[in-house]
This record gives sequence, structure tokens and C-alpha cells, in this order.
Amino acid sequence: MKKEYKIGLLGFGSMGKTHAYSVSVLPYYHPEMDFNVKIEGVCTRSQEKSEAVCEKYGFSRAVTDESVLINSPDIDIIDICTPNCCHADTLRAAIKAGKAIYCEKPICTTYSDAIEIANLAKSAGISASMVFNNRHYPIVMRAKEIIDSGAIGKPVSFHTSFLHASCTDPEKPAGWKQDRDICGGGVLFDLGSHVIDMLTYLCGEVADVYGRSQILYPIRRGRDGNTWHTNADEAFYMICTMTSGAVGTIDISKLTVGTNDDFTFELYGTDGAIKFNMMDPEWLYYYDARIPEGKHGGDRGWKAIECIGRYPAPGGTFPNGRSPVGWLRGHIESMYNFLYRLDRGMEQSPSLYDGAYVQKILDAAYKSDDTGMKITL
Ligand SMILES: NC(=O)c1ccc[n+]([C@@H]2O[C@H](COP(=O)([O-])OP(=O)(O)OC[C@H]3O[C@@H](n4cnc5c(N)ncnc54)[C@H](O)[C@@H]3O)[C@@H](O)[C@H]2O)c1
Repeated sequence: MKKEYKIGLLGFGSMGKTHAYSVSVLPYYHPEMDFNVKIEGVCTRSQEKSEAVCEKYGFSRAVTDESVLINSPDIDIIDICTPNCCHADTLRAAIKAGKAIYCEKPICTTYSDAIEIANLAKSAGISASMVFNNRHYPIVMRAKEIIDSGAIGKPVSFHTSFLHASCTDPEKPAGWKQDRDICGGGVLFDLGSHVIDMLTYLCGEVADVYGRSQILYPIRRGRDGNTWHTNADEAFYMICTMTSGAVGTIDISKLTVGTNDDFTFELYGTDGAIKFNMMDPEWLYYYDARIPEGKHGGDRGWKAIECIGRYPAPGGTFPNGRSPVGWLRGHIESMYNFLYRLDRGMEQSPSLYDGAYVQKILDAAYKSDDTGMKITL
């Protein structure tokens, strides 16, 4: 008899739906899976919504009090898809109840809470993972392989950006991600947490940070339709030095017209370079500077590596390695990675410590913005 993991899903906005979808399609992508998983119950802020979600998607328990799911003996996993300000209390309660945890980014809103929670989970022996879904694209997996093999030499510089256009319209009311009291920060927390995780995943630890925030529209309408004074950055710009000595820039913005979900990453080393763009996730670009130049250029040049849907077999065989991947595919693989590690009793990666480390850099970036100083970590 296969083990069945039951999930208590907290929040059913865009990410709650994404996680529930990922769970529902896992057996198609991973037919080799020797465990089952289902969403058992869902918690939203309205009983009516929770019930409607349960009816539509076939979940059993509809609640508005998350402690009901957290303290249910038959729930194995707490999946946190609520706004950032809610994460810390939920994480503490789920750890106390002994549940496995799958937590959306950022881990919470301050480094002091984040490291305390990561330590709590460790001493309680909890299997807990962050959702840093961008790690789960073949282009990123391949980029990490290339960097770790030493093929680009010593890292020299990087340029990464995550650009949205969602704050470019001053008539658009602010949502909770533009409210520091709920999001914990602004665009730095929302998009920047992804970027910092990618940077540290691929390039190691940060030595120092210099950060600058930007608010273009200080007054908008709020969620209640009344005048609202913007209290969170709409864009954030950083210069970071890594402990390897590499230096680079990070642009995070929701003020960039003409963008959608444009996450780009470039890393230049002494012997080569890599670059990728999440809007074009089929191709990883690699430059090998050790190839000699010829009279007419020789064989030197950027190589487009066809990563496409090349997930490790046997899981990577559906639909096939030739079909384009997309944002949802990264989330499906992220969910599978968490469940597989949980089932096999393996250490989770990305862990809550990875989440806490990202939080440390985010806190340092805000401190730099507040003081005008470079912050050494
Ligand atoms: N990894 C990713 O790709 C990704 C993308 C977007 C958001 N996120 C993260 O996922 C989490 C949820 O974001 P989302 O985009 O699904 O949000 P959302 O607004 O779409 O959904 C939030 C859900 O939480 C519930 N909720 C509970 N308490 C709430 C409160 N005080 N205020 C508002 N809603 C409350 C709402 O009922 C709703 O079901 C956040 O931590 C966010 O940073 C991750």
C-alpha cells in the first residue's frame, strides 16, 4: 500500500491554486512516484470561498481557521500560500504540531524571525522546504552544472533583473503586495526574494550590499477605494559583492513598461559566461572564452544550449524533452522535489535556512536604503 500524504492548504489565491494544480498533475509528470498525495483541506478568509473551492476541486475540509488544519492529526503537510505577514505565526504553529511544511517565499518578514524559525524546525526534526520555484527550470539546473564544473572560471560580474509592469498604471489600486504592513516590504520582498535566491544558489554568499528604493506613485487608491499613501518600494536597485569577489547589479521593478515576468540572469567569469531569460526558458546561453579566436572569428561565440524540457528521467519524460516548459512546470517540479525529499527522509533543499539567508540579504538591502550606507554581511 502506497503512503498517502495529506496536505492542508492555507490560502487559495494565485499560489494556492498553483500548488493545488501541481499536486493534481504530479502523477502525469512522475508516474514512477511510489507515494500518493492529495489536498485534504483548504483555508481561506471566507467560509463561502473555502466551501466553493472544496466543491469545485474535490477537497474534503473547508475552514477559515488555519489551526484546524494545522492541528488535525491526519494532515501530514502544511502548505503556506498566504500573504507574507502571516507566514511566521503559521510556521511556528506548524512546527509545534510536527507537520512537514512547504512555504511560499519570502519565508517571513524579518531575518530575526526567519532564523529563529529555521532553528526551531531543525531542532524539532521538521521536514520543511521553501518554494523557490525558479530553481526548477532545466536552464537553471544546467547553468548550475556549468558554473559548479568551473567552466566559466572565477566569477567576475553579474547582472540580474526581475521586471514587471504591474505598478506602471497610477490608476490601478494598490494590492497587498504594495502594502508594507502585509507584504513586509515592497517589490524587494515580492520579486527580490526570487532574485536573491537565484543569485546565492548560483554564485554563493553575499559579502556586502548597497540598495536604493524607488516609489514613482506616492499616492494611489487603496484596496477600499480611498486615497492611499504608498508605503512600499515599487522598484529597488542593488549593487552586491559576493564572497567570491564577483560584483554585480540587481534591478527589481514593477515600474517597467513593456515587461511581463522578465527575469534575466547574466554571469561573467574569467573563462566564460552564462545567461538566461525566464521569458525564453528553453535556451541557456553559454560562452566559452577558452575557445581560440580565428581569422574570421573561429568557433568562438555564444552557444544556445537546448535545455527545453530536459528534466531528469524518469520524471522528465512527460510530455517529452522537446516540448517547451513554462512557469507552471517549474512549480510542479518544485512540489515534486519537496515531496520526494520528504518521502525519502532527505534534507530539504531549498530549506528554511535558504529562506532565512535570503531574508538576511533583503533586510540588509533595506538597511542600506535607510542609511545610505553599504552594508557588510
Ligand atoms: N513562488 C511564486 O511563484 C509566487 C508567486 C506569487 C506569490 N508568491 C507568494 O505566495 C504567497 C501568496 O501569494 P498570492 O499571490 O497567492 O496571494 P493572493 O492574494 O492571490 O492569495 C492570498 C490568499 O491568502 C488568504 N489570506 C489569508 N490572510 C490574508 C490576509 N491577511 N490578507 C490577504 N489574504 C489573506 C486569502 O484569502 C487568499 O486565499 C505570498 O507569500 C507570495 O509572496 C509566490
